[in-house]
Amino acid sequence: MTATMPSSRLTVSLAGIDLQNPVLLASGTAGYGRELADIARLDSLGGLVTKAVSLEPRPGAPAPRVTEFAGGMLNAVGLANPGVEAVRSTHLPWLAEHVTRARVFVNVVGREVGDFARVIERLDDVPGKAGYELNVSCPNVKAGGMEFGADAVSLRDVVRRARASTRQPLFVKLSPALPDIAAAARVAVEAGADGLTVANTLPGMLIDVEQRKPVLGFGSGGVSGAALLPISVLATWRVHKATGAPIIGAGGISTAVDALQYIMAGAGAVAIGTAALRDPRRPERIVTELASWCEVRGVESIASLTGSLEWDA
Ligand SMILES: Cc1cc2nc3c(=O)[nH]c(=O)nc-3n(C[C@H](O)[C@H](O)[C@H](O)COP(=O)(O)O)c2cc1C
Repeated sequence: MTATMPSSRLTVSLAGIDLQNPVLLASGTAGYGRELADIARLDSLGGLVTKAVSLEPRPGAPAPRVTEFAGGMLNAVGLANPGVEAVRSTHLPWLAEHVTRARVFVNVVGREVGDFARVIERLDDVPGKAGYELNVSCPNVKAGGMEFGADAVSLRDVVRRARASTRQPLFVKLSPALPDIAAAARVAVEAGADGLTVANTLPGMLIDVEQRKPVLGFGSGGVSGAALLPISVLATWRVHKATGAPIIGAGGISTAVDALQYIMAGAGAVAIGTAALRDPRRPERIVTELASWCEVRGVESIASLTGSLEWDA
């Protein structure tokens, strides 16, 4: 089987969105699709989540923005983005024209609780997207980062207002640093979220010991890659147990077996970030590997594996 040959074993439905396979590109690692068009076959994937979109254009954090370590990557891009008007007039129309089989989720950020709904209102009538992902969990901005997801009152407010501004599916992206991620997930679902993305990066810092300064220009950043795998697999299982809602699992996925761990823990789809930055064709290979894994084991539908972990803590 080749990466482009669709396999009905891999089709999933996530909050009413039909995906040809459960493999997405994670927000911030695929730009707005266009940036990857020459190096990856976007239409062989289940979908992609765009880079964050805010009301106003944002320049982002000072360089260096990204560094690597043995367990993965540390980034503080600072939600750099061209702003909602450019996404409305340029990026979504490009996606509508060029990405036909993969589904697009728009990642939304805000400085104030009402900003999320304002961004959605500007985008809602534009074709080229299947749903939204609310980023209430970014660790590397001064305002409008993790505080919305960490406080139940703000989280409820963000989600309620966003819910009132669209009928398209809404996913809420949570932080793996939350003391009780299952409780936050419940708040989001009760406020009208259709699903959860589990999870964003984890706050971290790396130090240049000669300079005695943080390596990243922003100082701290978000840890992504391999180090996140067991953390976010457990978080996925907790959120699945607590809500039963559709989940996009993310954190440290670089193989089909990594993806299957999230699926068995309760995810209906997975998003690949750091591994796709290192090798843009890796997500396509994960699709192929998932199809073979299922075929060899006689699994007719990968959707039947969601939440199939045999463990009851
Ligand atoms: C360079 C970079 C930029 C990111 N930008 C965003 C973003 O704009 N919005 C967001 O919700 N998550 C963002 N993330 C988090 C990823 O979408 C993902 O949740 C996280 O990296 C864990 O997946 P991974 O280990 O496969 O990278 C970013 C991650 C990286 C590495």
